[in-house]
Amino acid sequence: MKIIDTHCHLNDVSYAEDLQEVLEKCQKVGVRVCFNTADSLPSFEKILSLAKAYPGFFFSVLGIHPEFAKEKDSYFDEAFLFIKQHRNAIKAIGEIGLDYHFDRSEETKERQKEVFIRQLRLAKELSLPVVIHSRDADKDTYDIIRQERPPVLDLHCYSGSCEMMENYLRLGLDFHIGIGGVLTFKNARVLKEVVLKAPLSILLTETDSPYLTPTPYRGKRNDPSYLPLVLKEISSLKGLDEEDCAERLFENAEKFYGIEN
Ligand code: NI
Repeated sequence: MKIIDTHCHLNDVSYAEDLQEVLEKCQKVGVRVCFNTADSLPSFEKILSLAKAYPGFFFSVLGIHPEFAKEKDSYFDEAFLFIKQHRNAIKAIGEIGLDYHFDRSEETKERQKEVFIRQLRLAKELSLPVVIHSRDADKDTYDIIRQERPPVLDLHCYSGSCEMMENYLRLGLDFHIGIGGVLTFKNARVLKEVVLKAPLSILLTETDSPYLTPTPYRGKRNDPSYLPLVLKEISSLKGLDEEDCAERLFENAEKFYGIEN
């Protein structure tokens, strides 16, 4: 099987001891490409160094997660300068977006929106796709996307409704949704319906490793070698052979990120 992880964090400290073993496990099940996605400025260097160490296997997505929106303007100036200077070494801007889960104050919301918009504009300026994180902020995320219209976007770990997906599709953008371990959870009724109704061409496989490990390994550290569990679920919902489904989703991801493998 030919598998691609469009969103993970194998730069995370939890892999510091055994990354090589994890990668061997991944290669055994057919994982050929992984996109390490930044959350903060200090993660940038590590992500680029992994892509250098494993060319063609690791690719880099750089951006500032909404959790860090409270950082000073100078932090963002530095991050954006870094991204511009390394433009040719990165495949997308991410993960960027809105997360109201832990703090719903107006001040936080406004700051998150401001840095989200700035990063969407940076991506446009650099002609890069965007990888979006949206948690408990569906409507505001949608409103900003509708207004800013990033040409190529992935709503990573999609957690919205079918109706929301339809609304995005109507915007006429090159819109994708990332599907990972959550699809295998018992309570994933809405997400299953989303996958069932979504055009196959918008689906991307992802893990968000080290988080969101699929059933029956929920609670353990995640890694891309668990992706066959997600693919099994997607292919059964779509009524496709697993191998064919994996191939199609691989192609979706290649197109999304503009890579050839
Ligand atoms: Ni993530």
